[in-house]
Amino acid sequence: MGRLENKVAYITGVARGQGRAHAVRMAREGADIVGIDIAGDMPGVPYDSATTDDLAETKALVEAEGRTAHLRQGDVRDLDGLKALAAQAVDQFGGLDIVVANAGICIPATWDESTPKMFQDTMDINVTGVWNTVMATAPHLVSRGGGSIVLISSSAGKKMQPFMVHYTASKHAVTGMTRAFAAELGKHSIRVNSVHPGAVMSPMGSGSMRERIAQTAESYPRLAPMNSSMLQQWAAECDEIANVVAFLASDESKFMTAEHVTIDGGAQYF
Ligand SMILES: NC(=O)c1ccc[n+]([C@@H]2O[C@H](COP(=O)([O-])OP(=O)(O)OC[C@H]3O[C@@H](n4cnc5c(N)ncnc54)[C@H](O)[C@@H]3O)[C@@H](O)[C@H]2O)c1
Repeated sequence: MGRLENKVAYITGVARGQGRAHAVRMAREGADIVGIDIAGDMPGVPYDSATTDDLAETKALVEAEGRTAHLRQGDVRDLDGLKALAAQAVDQFGGLDIVVANAGICIPATWDESTPKMFQDTMDINVTGVWNTVMATAPHLVSRGGGSIVLISSSAGKKMQPFMVHYTASKHAVTGMTRAFAAELGKHSIRVNSVHPGAVMSPMGSGSMRERIAQTAESYPRLAPMNSSMLQQWAAECDEIANVVAFLASDESKFMTAEHVTIDGGAQYF
């Protein structure tokens, strides 16, 4: 029997990368999956956007694990859309137990080439999108009598990420939100923890992302190695992040809340 048998998990940014890994991993542990992804153009990012085919592939992978996937195209900036999906999920599956606020964007830019639009888009998706996700789903966890919420931050939400003031600010906001929601939702036996990956081998590294990171690093090279892993392995696989998220979703972590779990090969202390 899986650790999440007959649980229902609501995941944002589910079309590919880490979001897909969370969906497949939780399905393997016995959960049904409700998910949303913009599956289309993301504002100003230098990497390839996810597609509706990606979303369909996640659905097929969840079904191959023998579970049901209710996945929809949608935007975490749309609170009403997130609420509607949560209500449909409750109708279909009877409730919600797990929430993973994973959708996010990342736009490398030095401080003096950053634009108001970059800052605004990053805040709207990475901060307001996470708040929207919790606001749309937490009432259903309250009705269920408890649950686990995992907010996906970054090593940029604990230490910082050079050449991304907007991204660092957004991911620190997620860290604060984790503690603040955990405090109030504890009354309802709902746990709220954040996960802080360092570099991850996801499609976020596609397109011209690596070139953009290298270009920004040229402006002040001494900052470039500050997020280096202590291990020979320099980046995580998506599944390695999903292992930790599944643990936080399960009863194995049942006395953990308001915690910020980092998966970065020790980079935060390097
Ligand atoms: N890849 C990394 O190195 C890394 C490191 C630390 C943290 N993270 C964080 O992990 C999370 C997942 O990233 P990933 O690596 O899987 O990248 P990814 O780009 O492969 O996946 C992100 C998904 O979010 C979706 N998305 C973006 N904006 C959206 C919106 N407005 N509404 C709904 N969906 C939206 C995208 O379509 C995409 O499918 C993000 O929050 C990211 O900031 C990534």
